[in-house]
Amino acid sequence: MKNTDNTPTETAIMEPDYTQQFCDDVIAGLTATPKYLQAKYFYDAAGDELFQKIMGSPEYYPTNCELEIFTQQTTSLAEAIIADGSPFDLIELGAGDAMKSTHLLRCLLQKQAAFTYVPIDISGHVIGYLNDTLPDALPGLKLTGLTGEYFDMLKQAEKLSRRRKVVMFLGSNIGNMPVADAEDFCQELRQHLSAGDSVLIGVDLKKNPKAILAAYNDAQGFTRDFNLNLLTRINRELEANFDLGQFEHYPTYDPETGSCKSYLISLTDQEVHLCDTTISFQKDEYIYMEISQKYTVEQTDQMAIQAGFAPINHFMDSKGWFLDAIWMVE
Ligand code: AVI
Repeated sequence: MKNTDNTPTETAIMEPDYTQQFCDDVIAGLTATPKYLQAKYFYDAAGDELFQKIMGSPEYYPTNCELEIFTQQTTSLAEAIIADGSPFDLIELGAGDAMKSTHLLRCLLQKQAAFTYVPIDISGHVIGYLNDTLPDALPGLKLTGLTGEYFDMLKQAEKLSRRRKVVMFLGSNIGNMPVADAEDFCQELRQHLSAGDSVLIGVDLKKNPKAILAAYNDAQGFTRDFNLNLLTRINRELEANFDLGQFEHYPTYDPETGSCKSYLISLTDQEVHLCDTTISFQKDEYIYMEISQKYTVEQTDQMAIQAGFAPINHFMDSKGWFLDAIWMVE
């Protein structure tokens, strides 16, 4: 789950398998050269809370830019999705609390569009929350929530109905994949869809490098704490002994590649113990934490075409910083 909106967070109940997988992934990352940790582990309860604070910080623009699109261009978005008026399933990958989509859902209902909203999330808690709250907030909404991995649940959705599919993947979550993985993801997504289906994808765009870097280096230190919190999580769940004072948050943005990357730098030679293993860090050695890839509109068009989609609509905020694109299956 990327709890990217205001969903109440789940109290972490650690299954033994989950802890073992977490341990294996952390050891694999910290024994690799260069060292890395998987960003999906950022999102424990404290990480979710810190991410809320990041989104509320003045520097972190993506959430507000995409919200502007969903509130100011709702009718155009809805009309593009309704297209020929045939009934459809509106599937949202990583729905969170569906804060942005709620604007679109309301407009679709007003237009009496024939659709079922199918939020997919790895967290059963998120889906339970949507089941409990959305039908009251949006009378008349047909909702079928699915809990699980995106592509497994897309397969489920295919079995649910033969209606055309509109898949939403918002929040520039695609940016948390390196470009090659994002391309693979789009291709896999295409394989789950058929002629007439479409995708509404949110992508953070290349812009002044200072604005991007500031978004990942907010003055209040929420992004720093978000990164360091993963070490706290490892300490707690894997009984490790990271000294947080000995690691420094280091964000970078390369305007040439559009890659915004976060690292934690070891401030000293040190050893950390976890899962019966000792990990040595040299002074100035880094742990690669996360990528938030930025694209040009042309690059997203290329990615769509390469995966077998036709890019048909570009919705951008007033600053031109964020793109919600509609891609049709060719
Ligand atoms: C969830 N994702 C799109 C965020 C991003 O902008 O890459 C995660 C994040 N990491 C640090 N700040 C925000």
